[in-house]
Amino acid sequence: MPPAAPVEQSRTRPPGGLVAARSVIDLIGNTPMVELRAVRDGVAEGVRLYAKLEGFNPGGSVKDRPAKRMIEQGIADGKLVAGKTILDSTSGNTGIGLAMVGAALGYPVKLVMPENVSVERKKVIGAYGAEIVYSDPMEGSDGAIRLCRKILADDPERYFKPDQYNNPANPLAHYEGTGPEIWAQTEGRITHFVAAIGTSGTIMGTGRYLKERSRAIQVIAAEPEDAFHGLEGLKHMASSIVPGIYHENELDQKLGIGTDDAYNMVYRIGREEGLIVGQSCGAAYVAALQVARTLTQGTIVVIFPDFGDRYLSTNLWLGWQKLP
Ligand SMILES: Cc1ncc(COP(=O)(O)O)c(C=O)c1O
Repeated sequence: MPPAAPVEQSRTRPPGGLVAARSVIDLIGNTPMVELRAVRDGVAEGVRLYAKLEGFNPGGSVKDRPAKRMIEQGIADGKLVAGKTILDSTSGNTGIGLAMVGAALGYPVKLVMPENVSVERKKVIGAYGAEIVYSDPMEGSDGAIRLCRKILADDPERYFKPDQYNNPANPLAHYEGTGPEIWAQTEGRITHFVAAIGTSGTIMGTGRYLKERSRAIQVIAAEPEDAFHGLEGLKHMASSIVPGIYHENELDQKLGIGTDDAYNMVYRIGREEGLIVGQSCGAAYVAALQVARTLTQGTIVVIFPDFGDRYLSTNLWLGWQKLP
């Protein structure tokens, strides 16, 4: 196993131009933003809608940011040292981010997930060299959480568990990265920030940074409208174990979005904007349009956490053929 790179090294950004990045880790963040000009549904001309395309991160999602930040913090705190394995119970984008960063820094990664997660997930995580431990598919993500706790309890010295739901380094990744990037990319003109919530790290960290720049910026969360939904990566807070990093009082508004509305928005964004995005982007953009329709002026930035090709074998892509 190669030795882990020192934290300072992984934080060094390439100076730009044609200079190569030192590691894939240095390519995390600084994602592009694009204006959505076709899917506007009667929004006033004075309102601009921008999507920040987090699918451009090297692991393919917004979760590369907290994966990197939590691992760096673990190293800085002496909790993640050579010989330890990064352990977590996530089959989603965080798992991919942890597997990527672990591979790049030379730490083994073990991820516990229900056996029925999508084939794309299993292959991508396996391709990064991470070990997958399958939990009972009938027990869903709770089963994976329980099995992960047992593995940790059986050999606590062997593992470092990032715990994205309670780790302050998760929102910090966005406070230090996503927030300043959006402020710079809009040249301080942002009036509304919209993000869908899973762990809530994105909205908490980015929202906190933006509010510090200007109290007037509105921070709006999109969540599934009920407990039974098909919006992978998102949480309906009232029916979920509430993450320790989530503080609802820091939000200005929270909008419940239906799965069908989110999926249909994904299909429209593909056809009308030329962007194939994931379902949580569809949910966030439905919320953004609801907000936009109440305004005559404004600059709205919406987080698009990943691209839609990540979900090709899932239910998301069953519906588009039915469109006229
Ligand atoms: C596709 C997708 N969208 C949105 C989110 C929510 O991001 P956060 O956990 O920062 O609230 C996640 C989180 O895993 C995700 O995977």
